[in-house]
This record gives sequence, structure tokens and C-alpha cells, in this order.
Amino acid sequence: MTKSILSVVGARPNFMKVAPLHRAFAAHSDRVRHSIVHTGQHYDAAMSDAFFRDLQMPEPAFFLGVGSGGHAEQTARVMVEFEKVCLAEQPAMIIVVGDVNSTIACTLTAKKLDIPVAHVEAGLRSFDRTMPEELNRIATDALCDFAFVTEQSGVDNLLREGWSSRADNIFLVGNTMIDSLHFALPAARESSVLAQHRLKPSTYVLATLHRPSNVDEPTQLRALLEILAEVTQTYHRDVVFPVHPRTRKNIERFGLAGLFDLVTSAKGLHLLEPQGYIDFLALMMHADVVLTDSGGVQEETTALGVPCLTLRTTTERPVTCTLGTNVLVRPVPNAIRNALQSVFTESRKSATLPPLWDGKAAERITTTILNTCLSTSFFS
Ligand code: UD1
Ligand code: UDP
Repeated sequence: MTKSILSVVGARPNFMKVAPLHRAFAAHSDRVRHSIVHTGQHYDAAMSDAFFRDLQMPEPAFFLGVGSGGHAEQTARVMVEFEKVCLAEQPAMIIVVGDVNSTIACTLTAKKLDIPVAHVEAGLRSFDRTMPEELNRIATDALCDFAFVTEQSGVDNLLREGWSSRADNIFLVGNTMIDSLHFALPAARESSVLAQHRLKPSTYVLATLHRPSNVDEPTQLRALLEILAEVTQTYHRDVVFPVHPRTRKNIERFGLAGLFDLVTSAKGLHLLEPQGYIDFLALMMHADVVLTDSGGVQEETTALGVPCLTLRTTTERPVTCTLGTNVLVRPVPNAIRNALQSVFTESRKSATLPPLWDGKAAERITTTILNTCLSTSFFS
């Protein structure tokens, strides 16, 4: 009999992690029925539908429609709705990815029903417990049964946190986000997004900002917006800034819309809607440098060999700094100015691809689940 496996997506960075798993499971449809559950944590077309299209994912089999809310409210709503799906579907396993509220909510729900949980992107730690994602990572990894890890630091962190007695359930497999990057690169090479915005390759800075520490406080958000405007003047480069809905809402809430209008009129500053995956990939691959506080973008720039300045003091993805193109920059104006100055005037940081970031992580995960996880005592 085929077993049912449910993979959970909720927020933007989840879609690119699950799409390759869905494709890889399709090759084993005689043994496994793989279905996607969308919690609805992100729901704008540009934060959700666009990715199903660009990543050629089927419609989710289950849509929970939880929407936005405070942490407790959002997490609780996912739990209530996901429990109904689990009770109806009786999955043999659920797969959660990353570190968003949907990740911990579904993990906790499944474990209370004694359903095995596999966590893809397990073990990452920023060691900053003020980040909501860090709490989600720690709690998810404490509860899950199988840990699929993208980089060695994740294995080390899990072993330090008590996984040594079940080290056989830790699998260093590479990065499904990079699988999606491989999948979409041919389409990104054909994208017309640069022409659409009259951009030339290697003449612009690409920026994304959405971490609460950068955008939830008016003075900090204002300082970062001002720096973006300044870059167009000081370095005569265009700045392309697809604005995350959290950031856009805060700009309005803090009365910074005036500044927003002002910076929009600064020559060369392109304030865009959140971009689809293929167009964003095209923008990343041709950028001179990327300024970001995103988790996934740190990894993708490393895979693409594009310089990345991460406007944070910590990263849960240290391999992007030790091997890749990523540099952490304190998110204050002078530190950002100095870092940009070095990127533009000094020789570029040399970089190599982290081990196993080869586009085949999903194949490794599905094979491991089918040949190892499904045959453990959980499933007997
Ligand atoms: C969430 C994740 C974060 C991840 C990010 C990816 C948590 C705790 N945070 O942050 O780890 O890096 O997604 O983008 O899970 N909103 C919309 N439309 C949408 C989605 C959100 O307008 O489709 C607005 C709402 O005002 C909402 C706010 O953005 O309150 C924040 O959304 P939420 O999902 O709570 O957190 P993110 O900041 O998106
Ligand atoms: N991304 C995108 N369009 C954008 C900004 C980001 O497609 O306008 C993609 C990016 O390439 C990466 C993912 O979204 O694959 C990262 O998501 P996000 O930065 O929202 O979340 P994080 O990784 O920080 O949790």
C-alpha cells in the first residue's frame, strides 16, 4: 500500500525547499503519495501563487488559510487546522522545512499525534534567541525524528544539543533551495526583468530587507532606507529593492511613506513589488552586489558566486561566510558604507560551493526517507 507523506509550506522561503522534494517523490509514486499542505501564512499572490507557477508545483492538496497574526495566534491557528488534516489523512510522515511559524506549529501538532516528523534544513543556529526563527529552529529540532542538514555546522549543533544518541537520524544531504536554483536557472537566463527596469548586468545593487530587527523599529528602518538612496548617489549604481510586505506595512505605519516617495524619486532607486522566483533569480545573478537580511538569499548568492553583504550581526548559515561570498555587516550606516566601499574597490572575496550543494539534495532526502526512515521501527 502507498504511504501518505505530507510536506508543509507556509511562507515564501518554504516553496523553493519543497518543490524539488515533490518532484523527487513523484518518481516513487508506487510507494509514496506525497501531498503539499499550504498553511496560508503567506497569501499575497506575489508571496505565494507566483512560486507555485515558477517552480511548477501543483496546487496544494490542503490549504489551511491561516493568514497573518501575532506569533501565538498564527502558530495556534496553524495547529488547529493542521491537526484536522493529520487526523483525516493519517500520514506516515510529515516533512517540515526551514524555521517559520508554520514549521514549528506543524511539528508540534504531528508529534502530539505520534506522527514521525522529518525536518529539512535542521540544525542551523544563529545563537540569537531574540530571533523568532531561532526559537522555531530549536523547538522543531528538539521534537523532530529525522534531521536533514544543509551544512556541517548543522550536524555539529544537533550533536551538541543532545542528538548524539540518535546520530543515525542526522543526514547531511545538501540544500534543496539550491536544487530549485538549478531547476530555475535556465528560465532565469531568459527572464526579461532587467530589460523591463532598464538595468544592465553588474551595474546595480539588489536589496531585500524583512528581519524584524531591521524593519520593525522606525529609526533603524529609516537609516537603512536612507542608505539605499545614498548608494545611488555615491556609487552611481542603481538600487533594486523588491519590498517585502512586512517592510512596506512598516514604512506606512511609521509615517515613512514621505521618505519613501522621496527616495523613489532618487535617480536609480527601483522600489518593486516582491518578485517572482525566476525574475528574482535573474536579478540576483546579474547584481554587482546583494544587500540582504534574508536567510535564503545568503545561500543563493553563494551558489551563484555573487557578493552578498548580510545586514545582520549573526548568521545561522556560517558556511556562506567561510566558503561562500557572504560577509556579515553590522546594520548601521557607517559599517554598510565601508563594506560597500570594499566590494566596489577591492578584489572580490574568493568563494567555493559548499559540499553537496549540487542540485541533488531532494533525491538524497527522498531516497533516505524511502530506504532508511520508512523502514525504522516507527513504521513497522
Ligand atoms: C516570515 C517568517 C520569517 C521569514 C519570512 C520570509 C516567521 C516567524 N517569520 O516573516 O522567518 O524569513 O516569513 O519572507 O514565521 N504580509 C502580507 N502578505 C503576506 C504575508 C505577510 O501583507 O502574504 C504582512 C502582514 O502584515 C503580516 C506581516 O507581513 O503581519 C508579517 O508576516 P509574517 O508571516 O507574520 O512574518 P514575515 O515577516 O513575513
Ligand atoms: N525571493 C523572491 N523574490 C523576492 C525576494 C526573495 O523570489 O522578491 C526568494 C529568494 O530568492 C529566496 C527566498 O525568496 O529563494 C527567500 O525568502 P525570504 O528572504 O522571504 O525568507 P528567508 O530566507 O529570510 O527566511
